[in-house]
Amino acid sequence: MYEEHRHLTWMLMLLFLTGVLCNMWKVKHQQRLICAVKGSSVIFLCSFQNPDNQTVRVLWGHLQPATLKARLISSSLRTLFTRFQYIGNTYHNCSLKIHQVECSDVGRYFVRFNTMSNRPREENAPVLKVVDLTIFMSKPSVKEAIREGDSVNLTCMNSCDGGKISSAYTWFKNGEPLHEGAALYLRNVSPTTSGNYTCSLKTHLGSTSRVLGIDVEYGPRNTTVLVQPPLGADPGSDFTLICSSHANPPRGELYVVQNSCR
Ligand SMILES: *[C@@H]1O[C@H](CO)[C@@H](O)[C@H](O)[C@H]1NC(C)=O
Ligand SMILES: *[C@@H]1O[C@H](CO)[C@@H](O)[C@H](O)[C@H]1NC(C)=O
Ligand SMILES: *[C@@H]1O[C@H](CO)[C@@H](O)[C@H](O)[C@H]1NC(C)=O
Ligand SMILES: *[C@@H]1O[C@H](CO)[C@@H](O)[C@H](O)[C@H]1NC(C)=O
Ligand SMILES: *[C@@H]1O[C@H](CO)[C@@H](O)[C@H](O)[C@H]1NC(C)=O
Repeated sequence: MYEEHRHLTWMLMLLFLTGVLCNMWKVKHQQRLICAVKGSSVIFLCSFQNPDNQTVRVLWGHLQPATLKARLISSSLRTLFTRFQYIGNTYHNCSLKIHQVECSDVGRYFVRFNTMSNRPREENAPVLKVVDLTIFMSKPSVKEAIREGDSVNLTCMNSCDGGKISSAYTWFKNGEPLHEGAALYLRNVSPTTSGNYTCSLKTHLGSTSRVLGIDVEYGPRNTTVLVQPPLGADPGSDFTLICSSHANPPRGELYVVQNSCR
């Protein structure tokens, strides 16, 4: 009876020690809540405590919030998906870089060693939020088109900034650099203002952009009138007046003048 009790005590102690040793596999993430703009890159800085400085295989998993399914996305051994790059090592650094962040990358991330079931103690396991770059346009009338002489303001934002305009933005018009800063004021617009305006957000990990087409409407100009058949060619017949001009949206007008009596 006494022997049996001692045996049990040893067993419990062994289990306890195994538990303690297993718990020495600790992973520490630098930041828990991480926000990234769609199309940009993000780094999850991570370190782990490795009791014997053994070489391990580090695995990264992603828990998709919609399905609650875990998927293996990266391994220190080999690349599984090019967008998920393991940038750590095999003895203390478990950092991961995600390139070209997509909306489906949202959710919780976790680290495992050697096998997916080997669960270490994790501190600050990262949760990724993905937002889009947004262009706000302020113009005289929300519903109506932009007309000659109007003033239009374009503001580029991303909600990772928490509404603050702090990121480094550059505006391009048809690919040409136009302005540094989040807000672009287009005063007294003319037909030449029309074009594609790109807002580009630059971070230390790369850049991402969004395009908005601006189309300035203007009334007919350079109007020409063509008479067919030419006047005097056949006096008394009907003739057609073709009125052509440059306008946006294009407007062409055709008048048929009945000249003869019927
Ligand atoms: C742990 O191992 C790595 C390579 O296997 C080595 O570079 C590093 O110096 C070792 N660290 C310690 C504390 O022994
Ligand atoms: C881990 O590796 C990343 C990428 O190389 C590096 O930026 C980071 O400073 C490293 N962290 C530590 C604790 O060594
Ligand atoms: C554009 O921004 C300027 C400066 O903030 C402001 O004075 C103007 O009223 C704005 N125009 C429109 C159409 O929102
Ligand atoms: C603007 O972008 C649209 C759609 O990509 C393209 O069809 C158009 O040619 C572009 N306009 C200019 C002036 O680059
Ligand atoms: C009107 O015609 C002139 C001369 O041909 C040309 O330079 C100008 O661009 C035209 N204006 C428009 C709005 O097409």
